[in-house]
Amino acid sequence: MSKLRIFFSTDIHGSERCFIKFLNAAKFYRASVLIMGGDITGKVIVPIIQQGTNSFSAYFLSEKYNLDGLRKVEELEERIRMVGFYPYRTNPSEWEEISANQQKFDALFTQLEIESIRKWVKLAEERLKSEGVKVYICPGNDDRIEVDEVLNESTYIVNPDGKAVDVNGYPMIGIGNSNITPWNCPRDVSEDVMADKIDKLTSEISNTRDAIFCVHIPPHGSGLDVAPQLDSNLKPVLGAGGKPIMISVGSTAVLKAIQKHQPLLGLHGHIHESRGVVRIGRTLCFNPGSEYSEGILRGVLLDVEKGKVRDYLLTSG
Ligand SMILES: [Fe+2]
Repeated sequence: MSKLRIFFSTDIHGSERCFIKFLNAAKFYRASVLIMGGDITGKVIVPIIQQGTNSFSAYFLSEKYNLDGLRKVEELEERIRMVGFYPYRTNPSEWEEISANQQKFDALFTQLEIESIRKWVKLAEERLKSEGVKVYICPGNDDRIEVDEVLNESTYIVNPDGKAVDVNGYPMIGIGNSNITPWNCPRDVSEDVMADKIDKLTSEISNTRDAIFCVHIPPHGSGLDVAPQLDSNLKPVLGAGGKPIMISVGSTAVLKAIQKHQPLLGLHGHIHESRGVVRIGRTLCFNPGSEYSEGILRGVLLDVEKGKVRDYLLTSG
């Protein structure tokens, strides 16, 4: 089996700065395979409202902007995209209409997500296709289903979600789902559905010990899945000394599948604050964590050779 250097990152939540760093990682780390593990789209729209012929206003990160001229607008739009929000140029009456209508708001969100991912796919093609770098982008539980269409359109990017794909001789299964979260995200599924999905995909692989499990949600109780316990109002439950009580929120189905199949690698994300690496039997499982809102790309660099992980490095930059 071939020698392989993989760069894995995840949960960049719309941050264009992080996506550009992800693409640059191929050259910077001399990686021939890039894998993005899900939650790639943003969560916030920032309206830039036209107030006069050439004047606009916007609220961004608690600051009010009065912008004269399109150049100023374009500069702010770029800053908005860099942190993972979606700028949207509009006028007062249109924005009032959208804000008052959940359906219209959702449709706009989907449109902006699609436009952003289409731009990213194009960027990846322009920068890496001719370099012979393979790019795998898996959606996560936060990403709307419509995003798949854009990823699947590309003849270059591979969307591994719900598939068993080949990564330079290593089989990889992709699952962008999470178990059920308090936020009822588009790709939350029950543990039973998760188990069925993993069963289906592993049945397509002849030797799962050589496999990479690119599964958004980490295995339960692994330490890669520790998050604050939330009450019914989604507020952290506080314990002794007023500190949030931390609990394991990972997937039991993923844990069982890793214990059973003992794949080469588990590549996970989803819980931004649970950065780390653990061994479950012979399987090395990673969660590089996420600091996308600061424009910091967290990742893991992996050297794989002859069916073994030769070396790894958690990265941040
Ligand atoms: Fe997630």
